[in-house]
Amino acid sequence: MPKLTIDGKNIEVAKGTTLLEAAQQLGIYIPRYCYHPKLSVSGSCRMCLVEVERGPKLVTACSTEAADGMAVLTASDKVMAARRDVLEFLLINHPLDCPICDQAGECGLQDYYMKYSLRKSRFSQEDKVLRQKRRAAGPRLMLDNERCILCTRCVRFCSEVTKTFELEVMERSDHSFIDLKEGKALDNDYSLNIADLCPVGAFTSRDFRFKQRVWFLKKTPTICLGCATGCKIEAHHNENTIYRLAPRPNSETNTWLCDHGRLSYKAVQAGDRLAKGVIKNGLIDLEPALREAATRIDEAKGAVAVLGSPWLSVEDNAALARLAKDAIKTESYCFDLTAEQGIKDGILINKDPAPNTSGVKLVKEALGGISLEELVRRIAAGQFKVVLTEARAALLIKDALKTSGPRLIVFACAKSEIPAGAYATFPYATYFETPGTFVNYQGLRRRTEAPVEAPEGVKPLWALVNKLAAYSGAGLRLDSAEDALKEIIFK
Ligand code: SF4
Ligand code: SF4
Ligand code: FES
Repeated sequence: MPKLTIDGKNIEVAKGTTLLEAAQQLGIYIPRYCYHPKLSVSGSCRMCLVEVERGPKLVTACSTEAADGMAVLTASDKVMAARRDVLEFLLINHPLDCPICDQAGECGLQDYYMKYSLRKSRFSQEDKVLRQKRRAAGPRLMLDNERCILCTRCVRFCSEVTKTFELEVMERSDHSFIDLKEGKALDNDYSLNIADLCPVGAFTSRDFRFKQRVWFLKKTPTICLGCATGCKIEAHHNENTIYRLAPRPNSETNTWLCDHGRLSYKAVQAGDRLAKGVIKNGLIDLEPALREAATRIDEAKGAVAVLGSPWLSVEDNAALARLAKDAIKTESYCFDLTAEQGIKDGILINKDPAPNTSGVKLVKEALGGISLEELVRRIAAGQFKVVLTEARAALLIKDALKTSGPRLIVFACAKSEIPAGAYATFPYATYFETPGTFVNYQGLRRRTEAPVEAPEGVKPLWALVNKLAAYSGAGLRLDSAEDALKEIIFK
């Protein structure tokens, strides 16, 4: 265990720890471009130079291992001068794009120039080596070679994380540039992480660029519901609109995000969001629609089945189970859903596309119910006049529904989700608009937060269930989502 000092502070670190990591443990920040904790060390940008006392020259902190007895200086005159020189070097051929660059506000060059340099360049605009300007580098990314500082983070991401090897450094010296390998397209399932990784405005997201200046964005921590992995994310939003999702790197689940999950926010703001009830294809206000559905449920006199959904939160599933058990008083309710779980691609994407299969299991353990096979058998045998569920879960029983033709009542966020032949549909708030508890495939309990508000009149699903119960004459008395959780035991 080497013992050393950094800026006069003592520290003992595990063998193999680099000077950059050791400084980080002491809370000392060393600037870096090419270093990334989840990529191999390339030591190419020289931004992390530090002084080791009695050493012959400055060393790169990201690639130098801590050794016993070292005395490291991270802010000596020599180090500060080297940082200014490195920045001047990196900026020699950099275009004067800042006013029109979408990276402004979160650009490593801007930030470090303001913090460590503020020196006027000795090179003139006319001498700059020009490179190719913006061009599509795949379906989700733009590349501007002139802005690139050749840190190779993008190249290493594609060769070490996705192992798709699309990118390469071409040519030598000041003619070097990043390009796609011949015959390759930059369309891997994780390509948008490259826009995060790129410390400058060379790679930018085609979805996000020029939609919003980053200093206007507020950040809300939440969870991706794109699959059972349940990655931790941050929603970046302004004035009730989400503009992008970014990872919240953590040691339990994810450093990165897949592109599917990252773009999942778009459904929330899509044109086909449902804001009214639907009865037999006709839009009507929510209250009369709920009364109509409650009447059909009453008429069915217990011949009603309720199916939970792995796309809904634990709270909303629990509310549905209590509706079945305590209000409708049917025995035919099912929260027994299974799916193959586990990482499909060795990175993040889960075999189970639903976010809460594990959470639904907790509802079953607390509130009981029958198996999915038994529910399907009973529906196919024509035992029900009404079946109530969430739109995507209805697909699990679609063949049985076709056989017996009960009235199908579903909850859906978008018109495109409504299953064919649904009798009634109720819009509900997405989990970007209302909080909810989910349990990921690792059994980790996570809560979504609501960065934006639901469209006017659209309520959380538990509140709709509460109203349906009230209109059926049997109140569940749910005043909040938490009320639905009373009997649920989280492990
Ligand atoms: S494009 Fe960005 S991430 Fe790739 S080498 Fe250039 S600066 Fe680094
Ligand atoms: S792996 Fe799953 S949870 Fe993670 S970002 Fe992708 S869709 Fe979302
Ligand atoms: S961060 Fe150390 S050389 Fe780039």
